[in-house]
Amino acid sequence: LSNGLALTPPMGWNSWNFYACNVDEVKIKQAADAMVSSGMKAAGYDYVVIDDCWQTGRDANGDIIADPVKFPSGMKALADYVHGKGLKFGLYTDAGFTTCAGRPGIYSHEVQDANKFASWGVDYVKVDWCDNGGMDPQTRYTIIRDAMANSGRSILFSICNWGINKPWIWGPATGNMWRTTDDIFDYWQRVTWIIDQNVPLANFAGPGSWNDPDMLMVGNYGTGAVFGGGMTDTEYRSHYSMWAIMAAPLIAGNNLASMNQYTKDTLMNSEVIAVDQDSLGKQGVLVSDLGGLQVYSKILQTAGTRAVVLLNRKDAASNITVNFASLGLGSSVAVRDLWQKINLGSFSNSYTVNVPSHGSVMLKLTGTEATTGPIVSGKTYRII
Ligand code: GLA
Repeated sequence: LSNGLALTPPMGWNSWNFYACNVDEVKIKQAADAMVSSGMKAAGYDYVVIDDCWQTGRDANGDIIADPVKFPSGMKALADYVHGKGLKFGLYTDAGFTTCAGRPGIYSHEVQDANKFASWGVDYVKVDWCDNGGMDPQTRYTIIRDAMANSGRSILFSICNWGINKPWIWGPATGNMWRTTDDIFDYWQRVTWIIDQNVPLANFAGPGSWNDPDMLMVGNYGTGAVFGGGMTDTEYRSHYSMWAIMAAPLIAGNNLASMNQYTKDTLMNSEVIAVDQDSLGKQGVLVSDLGGLQVYSKILQTAGTRAVVLLNRKDAASNITVNFASLGLGSSVAVRDLWQKINLGSFSNSYTVNVPSHGSVMLKLTGTEATTGPIVSGKTYRII
């Protein structure tokens, strides 16, 4: 969406994956505090988004009411608090009659709610698709887009209709991001299920308009409110590596106030974040897949460079090889490991490394653009 926002994938935190409906203003303030004190803000995360269950009904004028028990200070005061930390404030609503948790949706109150959100200081709105009465999503989201655009405030527009009616087709003109799948849960097979649906959509993403494979589960270890027994550190890091190479929005969904060091290291690696946030705005693509030994490549702004994820989907450690020619690079390439933050040296034609089961190695390759070789439309090459 050309509203000047999300020129790189949005970064922030959302209440759903950890708290689900059990959210209140104390928890949101804690999240905002922790976003600053943990270093997340300095790493680039800036949106604090309240998901479902903040709203209870409408008053006699039809104005949406924030739950007075859970949010006694009101949304304006909470937004002011978040803004006071140098962060941005987001809210959730639903394009239909009620939200997925049965709270009031935005239907027939589009302009009224958009203006109310703007008056509160909302910078980001996530719009869900429950209880939609069989309406057409493109039509509904266009109406809500326009209401937000006319509210007088710059509001990032996040479409959450779970990939229904191919939002990647109409999304770029309608929203800054659109969910491509059903919800993420806190287990590995759910993450790979999402990856496989989101990867083929690479060509639809770009500055201002992103495929959204849902929010991060990193660091929840099964303690969040959303379903799943948790993942290993290795799996969480692969989840994050894949979101970064897919140029996905990086919306953390864990308890920021109680992160262990591994979770911090996963969420706040500046070189991995730089891959996600690369200004060219290309989503990475699958280059090769040998029975679950996968190579993904993302073209970066600087000519002759690529980010690469080597992902091992097998249940045993295996070698994975990246061939430089398959990425559209010349034969001589300098290889840097982004998780270890070390230069591995200069290699000819290919690089091979042993990758643990469900693990990933994330690399930055610096070489030259190949001048010859096969050009495969929609694949990795710089000139598509
Ligand atoms: C849907 C969305 C989730 C979350 C919940 C809230 O399931 O996809 O991301 O917002 O609704 O009820």
